[in-house]
Amino acid sequence: MTSKMACLRVFRGSDRAGGCYQDYQVAFEDGDSVLDGLTRIRADEDPSLAVRFSCFNANVCKECSMLIDGKVEYACVAKLTEGITQVDPLPKVPLLRDLVTDTLAKKERL
Ligand code: FES
Repeated sequence: MTSKMACLRVFRGSDRAGGCYQDYQVAFEDGDSVLDGLTRIRADEDPSLAVRFSCFNANVCKECSMLIDGKVEYACVAKLTEGITQVDPLPKVPLLRDLVTDTLAKKERL
């Protein structure tokens, strides 16, 4: 089976105003998730990319929440597609780095 190619345009940085986007080309097969693509990027190309997940494709932990083409989605549920997909950290919560946000309740933050 021939792999298809996706381009993940990923927000990088720890400051929303000062961050930038980095494009990564990812080979995929039908059914692969955006999280599959992001973890492949980390493993094969750029280990500095920060992304959080726990259950990995079980859709249980909800830690992979992020903006995918402007919509809040779970990266382990959203499927890779051909062409450009923009991936951003969750809005309205503190950004830690890249796609990782502080998801603790406000009263639990130090
Ligand atoms: S990795 Fe657990 S819900 Fe996505």
